[in-house]
Amino acid sequence: MPLADSTDADARADALAALGWQVDLGADEAIEDTPVDRYQLALRRPAPDPGAPRADPASTPPHAGGPPDPAAAAEAAAGAAGDLAGLRAAMAAFEGCELKRGARNLVFSDGDPAARVMIVGEAPGRDEDLQGKPFVGRAGRLLDRMFAAIGLSRAGGSLYLTNVLPWRPPQNREPTADEIAMLRPFLARHVALADPQILVVVGNISAQALLGRRGILKLRGQWTDALGRPALPMTHPAYLLRQPLAKRDAWADLLSLKARL
Ligand code: URA
Repeated sequence: MPLADSTDADARADALAALGWQVDLGADEAIEDTPVDRYQLALRRPAPDPGAPRADPASTPPHAGGPPDPAAAAEAAAGAAGDLAGLRAAMAAFEGCELKRGARNLVFSDGDPAARVMIVGEAPGRDEDLQGKPFVGRAGRLLDRMFAAIGLSRAGGSLYLTNVLPWRPPQNREPTADEIAMLRPFLARHVALADPQILVVVGNISAQALLGRRGILKLRGQWTDALGRPALPMTHPAYLLRQPLAKRDAWADLLSLKARL
């Protein structure tokens, strides 16, 4: 074999071995289709001038004169949406969140927007990212069975579903507090436009976004208020898949929801 060919073959074998090693470690996808030049991104952000006088944070809006603040941009885009189609379009056009670049699809909602009950989950997983719909994987199928047991279903017009995050975090990692806060205006607008009678707050991320605190195992089953309407925190179906004994409490929560309706 000519030397060049054997070098190419070696390089290919090395690359495959490196890839195999990453797969063994648990990597199951490439995060981005196109490379992102982080050096260019950093260059576009002007470095703070250490000699500049300090602005009074009480009187100066954040990011005044600097690059646009993604949270403020999300707030403005969400507020300008006059209906659910407009909100979906505004979220699809929003460029302030890095999660969007690693996701295949925007996961906006499923079910009937006119339903009395709106479920707010955490974030899309692999199946949701592929199909562009919330709760379509294993946890979603359990969620459907749970709510069907009290006569509620997305196909039957009695449930509307969304998530705190419309894009799948890479490797299903926990979203950061900044990501949750940045995307919250979209969620708040979503709830205002759908105008459900009751919110079901599913899991810790949703509790953080809607109730301002975590600890879903303590919060679950206790009716509270979120975004100005009655809200019932519940454990996430993914947790119930791991901890089947917790289904007893989840059933009590479903009965409480049924009684309230
Ligand atoms: N878990 C969630 O919280 N939401 C989904 O859409 C899927 C899984």
